[in-house]
Amino acid sequence: MKIFGTSEQNERTKAMINLKNIEKYYENRVIKTYVLRGINLEVKEGEFVSIMGPSGSGKTTLLNIVGMLDAPSNGEYYFLDEPVHKMSEKKLTELHKTYIGFVFQSYHLIDELTVYENLETPLLYQKVNSNERKGRVAETLDRFGMVAKKDLFPNQLSGGQQQLVAIARAVIAEPKLILADEPTGNLHSEQGKEIMDLLKKLNEQGTTIIQVTHSETNAAYGNRVIRLKDGWIEK
Ligand SMILES: Nc1ncnc2c1ncn2[C@@H]1O[C@H](COP(=O)(O)OP(=O)(O)O)[C@@H](O)[C@H]1O
Ligand SMILES: [Mg+2]
Repeated sequence: MKIFGTSEQNERTKAMINLKNIEKYYENRVIKTYVLRGINLEVKEGEFVSIMGPSGSGKTTLLNIVGMLDAPSNGEYYFLDEPVHKMSEKKLTELHKTYIGFVFQSYHLIDELTVYENLETPLLYQKVNSNERKGRVAETLDRFGMVAKKDLFPNQLSGGQQQLVAIARAVIAEPKLILADEPTGNLHSEQGKEIMDLLKKLNEQGTTIIQVTHSETNAAYGNRVIRLKDGWIEK
């Protein structure tokens, strides 16, 4: 296991994510293709981790497994000490919705819903009541400077604005963990910096963050870099 931060801090901070010998492969009748191999990774609460590596090295697959959107082929995954690898679909979905905000590279907003309604969805999942929903959406629109855009649909926004909405949607339910797959990948550098500053701020307020990035500059926003190569974590 990698050592990071001061050892005193390590003792006191709880492990949020613990992956033990995770493997992921795809299989057809002829061959088994490994995408992830021997992945051992511990992420503590409050960390900001960057995953880097060449295209095809397994970054998105790893993030999807951590986000409970995909299951590993082998290995153990503990989230806040609970065995994810043993959970039912239903429990996984529940855990995902309660704890995790996922930011996809391609935004994944719901095209048929307005900005307002897109922001409201995670709160509906969490069964937040109508009054509180209104308040939280209004507050988030304000915080992200999007009040004037609330009735627009995603295709009426620029890429940068769509990614801001996607991040706002990921954080509105105050998840303990934010997973972001190349969140600035499709953005201009200025918009990219805005997103990175926002993630940094959320991390300083206590949110654990794992991002995939190709940019050393963006990786430096975090406190630790994990490099993937051909499905392995580079030592
Ligand atoms: N559903 C799938 N079936 C077969 N191979 C897949 C599937 N999804 C991903 N892969 C393969 O897994 C490898 C890693 O993909 P990915 O995790 O997306 O890498 P990265 O995000 O680092 O670019 C790639 O070679 C990709 O082709
Ligand atoms: Mg990817």
